[in-house]
Amino acid sequence: MVLYFSGTGNTEYIARLIAEGLGDECIDLFDRIRTNDKSSLYSEKTYVICAPIYVCEMPLFLMKYLKSIIFNGNNKVYFIFTSGGYCGSAKVQAKLFSLKKNLRFLGCSEFVMPRNYVANNRYAMDDEEVIYSKISKANKKINPVVEAIKNERKLKSRHVWLFETLIIAPFAPIWTKYKLIAKDFYSTEECVGCGICEKVCPLNNIEVISKKPEWGESCTHCMACISKCPKKAIEYGNLTQGKMRYLLKDYVKIKK
Ligand SMILES: Cc1cc2nc3c(=O)[nH]c(=O)nc-3n(C[C@H](O)[C@H](O)[C@H](O)COP(=O)(O)O)c2cc1C
Ligand code: SF4
Ligand code: SF4
Repeated sequence: MVLYFSGTGNTEYIARLIAEGLGDECIDLFDRIRTNDKSSLYSEKTYVICAPIYVCEMPLFLMKYLKSIIFNGNNKVYFIFTSGGYCGSAKVQAKLFSLKKNLRFLGCSEFVMPRNYVANNRYAMDDEEVIYSKISKANKKINPVVEAIKNERKLKSRHVWLFETLIIAPFAPIWTKYKLIAKDFYSTEECVGCGICEKVCPLNNIEVISKKPEWGESCTHCMACISKCPKKAIEYGNLTQGKMRYLLKDYVKIKK
């Protein structure tokens, strides 16, 4: 069973290609997270958990959710990360998660995908050439990963140095708590009150009142609302004006 969370499509794209290669089912965790559905999972086949990287780890809200689920059936797990280029200590996080859930960790694989983090001033968004080049390199990596999973071979990935884990372990939760917040989101005059932003938020953090979105306190900066607004009517403080919004589907078709 392939499980994924995706804000802007990168992880969904990779998860669906892996599921297709494996001939396995592919579960979008969006609805389960949004409705707080904690019913247990059952899979005959190996679990494959696919996640984007936020702040050098898998998103903390996602890990919290996955920790609350019972994984029945098969007791083996692979992890697939999609990032803009650096997965930090996600591998260590994945190993610890597997240990806690009594799942046998069979390794992880990192897919470098286009940057989606528009509401940030540290990293520039990728240009079109880089976007297509990253997608093309990722496509070439799918088959070897699928073959390894099919044959239950260990997936090899970059060594994570102890110093990385020691820095990231305290840094990621603090950054997540104080920086991945919604207070600077606002809608502009272009907003037509369509309600899409409300529907695409995995944390139910947006309510459209009198045709205007209002953001609440729980946000994880997944970039779904700002990137999926059809009118480009969402901005984040002074960080997003004039910048492109990234959605994978604008560059390649996601096979459903
Ligand atoms: C809040 C946030 C934090 C991110 N942090 C990192 C990071 O630490 N390292 C990195 O390489 N990419 C980082 N990225 C980029 C994403 O991991 C990358 O674009 C990912 O493929 C997005 O997946 P999605 O389209 O499935 O949501 C971050 C993106 C967001 C939104
Ligand atoms: S998606 Fe965009 S246009 Fe639609 S309600 Fe939200 S901000 Fe307004
Ligand atoms: S408010 Fe926007 S960025 Fe924050 S979690 Fe919801 S959809 Fe993602």
